[in-house]
Amino acid sequence: MIELLPSILAADFAHLADQVAAAERGGGTAIHVDIMDGHFVPNLSMGPPVVKSLRKATSLPLDCHLMIDNPNDFIPAFAEAGANWVSVHYEACPHLHRTLQLIAHQGMKPGVVINPATPVDFLIEVLPMVHHVLIMSVNPGFGGQEFIPFSLKKLRRLADLRRALGLAFKIEVDGGVAHDTVAQVVQAGAELLVAGSAIFGAGQPEENARSLLVAARQAAAQA
Ligand code: DX5
Ligand code: ZN
Repeated sequence: MIELLPSILAADFAHLADQVAAAERGGGTAIHVDIMDGHFVPNLSMGPPVVKSLRKATSLPLDCHLMIDNPNDFIPAFAEAGANWVSVHYEACPHLHRTLQLIAHQGMKPGVVINPATPVDFLIEVLPMVHHVLIMSVNPGFGGQEFIPFSLKKLRRLADLRRALGLAFKIEVDGGVAHDTVAQVVQAGAELLVAGSAIFGAGQPEENARSLLVAARQAAAQA
């Protein structure tokens, strides 16, 4: 089952509720929220207050991608704000197992994310405890970057591991997902497709979401 997760990083923040509603009408089934701290990644974005406002504006799950150091310090605040799914970076968590447990204990779905340079196999031990694994297909920190082609190999490796281990976590991809890359990522095994610029960058979010989803589902049907 292919799902589209509009990333609001590329949205017009002055009209966030309208932008999210348009992306939902276009077929978005969860909202991807990028949290950046200026330390783990070289950019700042938003925090729990924006999640709290979004919670009132949509009933879709809020998929919070934490690109921050010391995520444990903030996980309760995201739970309080109404986040549903929370993913943390392998690279930011020296005690990843404990952090994933904390997310689950706070009533949210835990996910783990890896940067382009991190091998999928580093996640083997924690795969049984995650709801989703996010493969970054750009270096995190900014929207609108070019898709890194070797991400496809990593998606395939993750799909193989899931099959071999008999697990059911979802495979998510984030970065440079657009009309020119969507067929490849779907055919490599991605199911949760995060897209920022391709949805909110130009034109109408509703139409952009709909056409990207059509292309993704066509590619899945051919896989
Ligand atoms: C990048 C973020 C992405 C970003 C993707 O660090 O994690 O979610 O919004 O943007 P696009 O789809 O423009 O590559
Ligand atoms: Zn993201």
